[in-house]
Amino acid sequence: MDLGLTGRVAAITGGGGAIGRATARLLAAEGAAVALLDVSADAAADARAWIEGEVPGASVATAVCDVTDKASVAAAFDTVVEQLGPIDILINNAGFSRDKYMLKMAEDDWDDVHNTVLKGTFHCCRAVLPGMMERNWGRIVNTSSMAYLGNKGQTNYSSAKAGLIGLTNALAREAGGFNITVNAVAPGLVATPRLRARPDFEKLQQRSLATTPLPRLADETDVAKAMLFFCSSLGDFISAQCLNVSGGR
Ligand SMILES: NC(=O)c1ccc[n+]([C@@H]2O[C@H](COP(=O)([O-])OP(=O)(O)OC[C@H]3O[C@@H](n4cnc5c(N)ncnc54)[C@H](O)[C@@H]3O)[C@@H](O)[C@H]2O)c1
Repeated sequence: MDLGLTGRVAAITGGGGAIGRATARLLAAEGAAVALLDVSADAAADARAWIEGEVPGASVATAVCDVTDKASVAAAFDTVVEQLGPIDILINNAGFSRDKYMLKMAEDDWDDVHNTVLKGTFHCCRAVLPGMMERNWGRIVNTSSMAYLGNKGQTNYSSAKAGLIGLTNALAREAGGFNITVNAVAPGLVATPRLRARPDFEKLQQRSLATTPLPRLADETDVAKAMLFFCSSLGDFISAQCLNVSGGR
């Protein structure tokens, strides 16, 4: 089945990371040109080499981009447009957690998570929306998390990821008239290489498996498939939705 992605240009923030590069790989395999925007040039370059190996002939660009910095976002998106053409698809995926109980949380832990997850998404949406509106087509997918329901030690991360769902729903209403869909995915625990390397991985895995109907943890490709769905023609009439990628949790 043709998923309607051939020739589309997709920008993926945090494209050097696990979920970002897995999503870029699926989009590239469907014929989209992909731009990996990451604050780490090394991570983006590594992801680019991996995608080019996995998808021979893929069109892949990289740009260093700090999503918290409006000027950096503008410069990175300009570079992408120069290299690949106008951006049709935006995957807002850059993010991280910095866990502490609220009374022990440094103000910077709050600001850094919110500035990256929520304000970074605001900056990146604003960078691509005018072009999408002009061309009357666009797909935006925001990376929330099941933490939007609220996890102990994650008041910063849970509130930012919940905020992303509000942003998604509001922007979907603003942009829908321009044939732009805006959706979110909310992964549960994803067994990325970084997570597997954590000393408490076994404990995290046990806890997650105990509350997940499906009998395994997600990997990054499980999340990428949900992203691909929203970007593809399968999702043409679906907007303002948050899809939990959480094994039935
Ligand atoms: N791994 C999980 O279990 C899980 C679960 C739910 C949601 N998520 C979300 O999925 C997204 C990707 O997670 P991942 O597991 O692939 O993480 P990852 O650490 O592998 O990738 C994140 C990438 O974002 C980049 N990044 C960080 N700050 C940035 C900034 N200011 N500007 C641009 N890039 C920046 C990092 O350099 C990294 O390459 C995140 O938003 C995360 O919150 C992850």
